[in-house]
Amino acid sequence: MKQAIIVRGLKKSYKANQVLKGVDFTVNKGEIFALLGSNGAGKTTTINVMATLLAADGGSVEVAGYDVAKQPEKVRSAISLTGQFAAVDDTLTARENLALIGDLRHIKDSSQTANELLEKFQLADAADRRVTTFSGGMRRRLDIAMSLIGNPEVIFLDEPTTGLDPEARNNMWQTIRDLAASGTTVFLTTQYLDEADELASTIALLHAGKIVASGTARELKKLVPGGLVELTFHDQKQTQAALNILKNDYKIAEGENLKLTVTAGESAAQLAGLFIKLRDAHIEPADFSQHSPTLDDVFFKLTGKKEEN
Ligand SMILES: Nc1ncnc2c1ncn2[C@@H]1O[C@H](COP(=O)(O)OP(=O)(O)O)[C@@H](O)[C@H]1O
Ligand SMILES: [Mg+2]
Repeated sequence: MKQAIIVRGLKKSYKANQVLKGVDFTVNKGEIFALLGSNGAGKTTTINVMATLLAADGGSVEVAGYDVAKQPEKVRSAISLTGQFAAVDDTLTARENLALIGDLRHIKDSSQTANELLEKFQLADAADRRVTTFSGGMRRRLDIAMSLIGNPEVIFLDEPTTGLDPEARNNMWQTIRDLAASGTTVFLTTQYLDEADELASTIALLHAGKIVASGTARELKKLVPGGLVELTFHDQKQTQAALNILKNDYKIAEGENLKLTVTAGESAAQLAGLFIKLRDAHIEPADFSQHSPTLDDVFFKLTGKKEEN
């Protein structure tokens, strides 16, 4: 079995609110998969169905080879879930939190396991401090450490970096990479395009109840035209002259402040062609820059929305 998760035609409504309208995706074993979507898109709902916390209205969901509706206990023993809000007990120390979960999951060498996890998540120095004194990043690390007790095959991380400062966010990214490198399948949700771009081998974009695009970051970026060149001119007259010269050969968008955005193509020869045309007409732009497609462009094209933070 190559797939860790197979979701087909997943539907879920809350009363009249149809949140998931037939969601399809597969997650390969050992990969980092990012479900990308804005607030309210249905990311947590999808995770809750996969983690057996919520029953679907339709479709099929298989996790670690088990059907979530028919074999929920099997699924539960193969996964762990770290929610959007950390589930650690504030009144306990980090070590006590880990020991508690170890006991709940009947781990034999639970104190040894706790020590290893404290080390791995850079919490050894803070091991015997109460969690109330922890920063957001430390809490999140402890939360993930707790979820790893029992070596789950698949780990679900619901918005693992929301609310973290840039340093804590970078540390979390490294933790997630380490998890995947050790063979765990990581399914994460995020609203952040750069996070999906940075971490995930496969990205699926959830919008209006469906997966509207999925693939590697590279594949997704190919969905929008590449080779955009932004030209800025000295005055309105020069801008108009450039527009007249280029408009028959290129797709051009007029921007504010004497700017034209030209779809020039991706090869050096195509780019050169654009600048030769301008030079031959004695038009020297005040400034120019090349713009490669980003996930923002893809997100905007497919959803009509700017990334919301
Ligand atoms: N328990 C619930 N009861 C009713 N509506 C809900 C419930 N949970 C989520 N919703 C609604 O479903 C939609 C998707 O929510 P959610 O899955 O939490 O989105 P996301 O995690 O992408 O922000 C939202 O409109 C939300 O208000
Ligand atoms: Mg959510």
